[in-house]
Amino acid sequence: MNTSWRTGRRAWLAAALVASAAVSVAAAGGLRDFLDSENPVKRGYAIVPAGVVLNLAGKNRQLVGLGSYVVNTSGCVDCHSHPTYSPGGDPFKGEPERLNAEEYLSGGRQFGPEITSANITPDNAGKPAGLTRSEFIQMMRTGHNPKDPPGTIVQVMPWPVFGKKTELELIAVYEYLRAIPSLPDNTHPGP
Ligand code: HEC
Repeated sequence: MNTSWRTGRRAWLAAALVASAAVSVAAAGGLRDFLDSENPVKRGYAIVPAGVVLNLAGKNRQLVGLGSYVVNTSGCVDCHSHPTYSPGGDPFKGEPERLNAEEYLSGGRQFGPEITSANITPDNAGKPAGLTRSEFIQMMRTGHNPKDPPGTIVQVMPWPVFGKKTELELIAVYEYLRAIPSLPDNTHPGP
């Protein structure tokens, strides 16, 4: 029998034991509370940046919460908000974090002279970055924005990473981006 498979299986069993131990500990303090606090939809709503007002009309609230969880824990803001933090709110300088809500996800971060991150807020028709949901998912999965000329591939954007997310998560990201404020393109792009 293949030993690496056996080792892998043993590691998996060990991981399962650790996980079940964690759940027993949690059970002592109330399993329901533990699961509740671990719920990504709830966490998603808790981490919507202060000052970003969501428009939930006509949106699926569960998806919006899950989408917020993915967007606000996956670095979208680092590249798609410029500057990422408000003055005095930069955690890298030891300041209490305050994200730049006024320009949240409106793009403008430059990567060299050629590439600037896109405004991914909803356009006038409510479509994030002007993309339909299927166009958005295609871009995240393949790196090709169907709005761009054939054969072009979106650069810098870590689509090879994000493209591995589940369909549910990508749908949720799109729903969250539909709910954030629509903003004009960043007027002062920079590195
Ligand atoms: C490392 C920086 C970086 C991160 C992280 C990042 N992006 Fe991007 N993204 C870019 C850049 C740069 C572009 C424009 C690329 C180009 O023009 O070739 C882009 C383009 C896009 C586009 C295409 C828009 C268009 O008009 O073509 C969408 C949609 C998008 N990003 C969504 C996201 C989402 C959602 C996340 C988080 C899950 C994210 N990005 C994370 C840098 C990033």
